[in-house]
Amino acid sequence: MSNVVVVGAQWGDEGKGKVVDVLAACVDVTVRYQGGNNAGHTVVVGKEKFVLQSIPSGILHPGCRCVVGCGVVIDPAALFEEMESLVRRGVSLDGNLYISKNAHLIMPYHPALDRASESKAGKRRIGTTGKGVGPAYADKAARIGIRMADLLDEQLFREKLEFNVFQKNRLLREIYDAETFTVEAILHPYRRFAGWLAPYITDTALLLSRWIDAGASVLFEGAQGTMLDLDHGTYPFITSSNTTAGGASTGTGVPPTKIHGVLGISKAYSTRVGGGPFPTELDGPAGDLLRMRGNEFGSVTGRPRRCGWVDAVVLRYAARINGFDSIALTKLDVLDACETVKICVGYRYGGEILTDFPEEERIWHEAEPVYEELSGWQSPTRGLRDYAELPTKAREYLDRLSELCGVPFCLVSTGAMRDEIILTPDSVLTRWYPTLRGGLPAR
Ligand code: IMP
Repeated sequence: MSNVVVVGAQWGDEGKGKVVDVLAACVDVTVRYQGGNNAGHTVVVGKEKFVLQSIPSGILHPGCRCVVGCGVVIDPAALFEEMESLVRRGVSLDGNLYISKNAHLIMPYHPALDRASESKAGKRRIGTTGKGVGPAYADKAARIGIRMADLLDEQLFREKLEFNVFQKNRLLREIYDAETFTVEAILHPYRRFAGWLAPYITDTALLLSRWIDAGASVLFEGAQGTMLDLDHGTYPFITSSNTTAGGASTGTGVPPTKIHGVLGISKAYSTRVGGGPFPTELDGPAGDLLRMRGNEFGSVTGRPRRCGWVDAVVLRYAARINGFDSIALTKLDVLDACETVKICVGYRYGGEILTDFPEEERIWHEAEPVYEELSGWQSPTRGLRDYAELPTKAREYLDRLSELCGVPFCLVSTGAMRDEIILTPDSVLTRWYPTLRGGLPAR
């Protein structure tokens, strides 16, 4: 039994959904522990593409129980739509999906506040997804949030809603000059959501504890990435939750002593969506090329992602903050045609070369990346099944990157399909999940 946390090592969109989809076949339970429907985990199964937002990617495996933990913020309208779309496509939810009573709700005034505050932020705009995630977490921290359990208590729900609508309307009207809400207009649809969602809402921390005691293995599916973490990311250009491994405990109620491993996910290059510092960003044709080859457009908002070379300073930092046992490297094939490939090994700032990720916003914006340049392999890697079949120069790139991160790689993906994955020799995954010793499970 191995309980493992999967964490994005960069700014999100690293391909966590695809890796979780493969590992979900080896576990009993998958859990989301933070974020909300700002996330978009894309999983391609055969000719079908699924984009999961609040529900763990494990839902695509019939035997896998899925939990939405207390650290997640839930927009019930979006969740219900996601549930309906899965059911329409033949995915069963009954007995497979469990939602924490302690998870906070995204209310209609949260996206309104999110968009209003962004519209007034000028050059300090974060470039949020506009889903209301930040304002919902702000209410949680201010102790005025409304939880899933409250949704099931008609009187308490109305009480909390009345207080919030009064307060938010003043903010919307007087600070932002934006449209306001009425209690009744929110109450009616939310009562319907309460009825629909009630069978799934439960004490998930207790369930997880019982399942783990009975020998179940749990996979914790992180959303976004380390550099968007509320405490450890490029604040304030971050999301409002703890995306890093520590969030798996607080966001589920599973204690750290019951977690056995942490797996980082990184792309073979870097991307970021929204505003904020991105030291290795490539402007112009070089960035456009990575975007086209990697199809780098947001799965939730469709926004073009900013692209750049892989940043070993960021990956080493992510390895330190999360305690990665290993890293899964995705989308190696996007670099197949490159004549040379670059790895950022430090930042030049104020006459110094920094090799540890700095904490000052000014340095992130002004530092110059220092690159190591390797020759490219210029041959296709898609469809290769075995690590030894990878071109020598591709293996040299992987070896050097792994050395700079200080963490071994366990898996390399070379395409969007679930079977375009190569396990590395001595992959930690075969220790955590002995069934993988016979190769990846067939779909
Ligand atoms: P929010 O989470 O919508 O508040 O957005 C805050 C920042 O996190 C913005 O820069 C978003 O683009 C970014 N962000 C949020 N969710 C994701 C994601 O799933 N992938 C990549 N970036 C994200």
